Amino acid sequence: MSIQSENIEKLVERRAKARLGGGEKRIEAQHAKGKKTARERLELLLDPGSFEEYDMFVQHRCTNFGMEKSHPDGDGVVTGCGTIGGRLVYVFAQDFTVSGGSLSKTMSEKICKVMDMALRNGAPCIGLNDSGGARIQEGIDALAGYGEIFERNILSSGVVPQISCIMGPCAGGAVYSPALTDFTLMVQNTSYMFLTGPAVVKSVTGEEVSQEELGGATVHASKSGVAHFAAPTEEEAIRTIQRLIGFLPQNNLESAPFRETADPVGRTDDALNSIVPDSPNKAYNMYDVIRSIVDDGDFLEIHQAFAKNIIVGFAHMNGRSVGIVANQPRELAGVLDINASRKAARFVRFCDAFNIPLVTLVDVPGFLPGTQQEYGAIITNGAKLLYAYGEATVPKVTVTLRKGYGGAHIVMSCKQLRGDINYAWPSAQIAVMGADGAVNVLYAKDIKADPEHAQAIFEEKKKEYEELFSNPYQAAQKGYIDDVIEPRNTRFRVIRALEQLASKRQEIPAKKHDNLPL
Ligand code: HXC
Repeated sequence: MSIQSENIEKLVERRAKARLGGGEKRIEAQHAKGKKTARERLELLLDPGSFEEYDMFVQHRCTNFGMEKSHPDGDGVVTGCGTIGGRLVYVFAQDFTVSGGSLSKTMSEKICKVMDMALRNGAPCIGLNDSGGARIQEGIDALAGYGEIFERNILSSGVVPQISCIMGPCAGGAVYSPALTDFTLMVQNTSYMFLTGPAVVKSVTGEEVSQEELGGATVHASKSGVAHFAAPTEEEAIRTIQRLIGFLPQNNLESAPFRETADPVGRTDDALNSIVPDSPNKAYNMYDVIRSIVDDGDFLEIHQAFAKNIIVGFAHMNGRSVGIVANQPRELAGVLDINASRKAARFVRFCDAFNIPLVTLVDVPGFLPGTQQEYGAIITNGAKLLYAYGEATVPKVTVTLRKGYGGAHIVMSCKQLRGDINYAWPSAQIAVMGADGAVNVLYAKDIKADPEHAQAIFEEKKKEYEELFSNPYQAAQKGYIDDVIEPRNTRFRVIRALEQLASKRQEIPAKKHDNLPL
């Protein structure tokens, strides 16, 4: 065999060994837990044959606690680039079979390399996380590695989309990096996110809690809101990432890709003319409205299980990506509370950073009152949404379907927060508050003074108030609403508005950065 052939054989062997990560036994253990390996995940994620791997031969440099005896090639993370639907993405996938995917200094260098490339070349960065956090044997070096990753997460924020998928037990630094990215997905029953695991919780606070209760996918997707998606399987999580990428531009200087559709722009839907019930206290399903107006009824919801009183997600309208924000009258009457405000504010800011126009569907009775909300800082949290809409410069089209009361009307992309085109359905009621509440405030003394006629006074004043305010025309007369539209035409009218706004240019005053209420 020639020297060159031998060299090539060695390379092939070394590559084959590196591909085994922590070895057959650990791969079997990974499979036994219902988890795929880092390479299997990347194979599912990327277009076939598109993966280009970097740093396959990188080894850790640690000499503590016997680490010097083992130097697996690749050191617990697989990194590189590939394509999804033909579009470039940078990826890293932590390999739990090597030291539990824990982060060494060299692993962080590999991750930082692809993050730098993603930023320089203007392409999304996707991390598949399966890691026990900082590699304990490396001490401060591992912590420094996290610091370097976090700094890149921050610098990349708003420049290239960053997506994190949690595919195993992730602790410590392994959860802070995802928290700095734009979207976090989890897998039911096999992935966990916590700063410290159940053992540490017990020793510090005495609380006994399982991994699932502390940081399972259901907890983070419905209670904390840390996770934007909870997928039933790894395959489903990966399909969601692929779908998500289809709505997003490569970076903040580009537009999202155009998606061909056979759905006619002028498609009308008579059902919308009667979707709003006659009684203002009856609910209807906002999903029906969303699916009716977007291309092919296709809607990718973000945070589906968290703060269900507001709906956010991506759709296409005449082939263009849009971000939809809609109050959901079926959940808490669509009221704005702390979680709904946080959820929508983050989404609005993402869309604004990445040139995705916003379509806002309003049916909101106001902010949720009470001590729980006040003590939880509804003022600061509600201000986040107000701030997000007010600073957004992407095209903003708003449709008020029914209630648009008080501060919540203002917050939900009103004209004064630089809403571009604001429509209302004939069922809209745009006022400081609903009729019952208003009459009780304005005529409390009259009602109290004449108990015999209290009901009659109430009804008479309520009628007067409703005639004046329970319609869209007060707002339309003053130009706060650009037009009152027939509900069946909503798709057509919104698309036409978005097309007018496609070349919109709007600035915010020069500043170092803003100081949004955190
Ligand atoms: C080094 C680690 C490790 C770590 C796991 N391993 N975590 N090695 N550093 N952080 C190793 C284990 O020793 C084991 O090696 C292998 O990975 C698999 O781990 P198991 O414990 O057998 O797996 P499992 O039972 O599934 O439990 C997974 C786990 C648990 C929940 C992640 O290992 C765990 O609690 N690890 C510690 C988590 C943690 O507290 N990390 C520190 C975070 S501090 P062998 O050779 O036996 O197979 C941090 C600071 C960053 O990250 C701060 C930024 C702000």
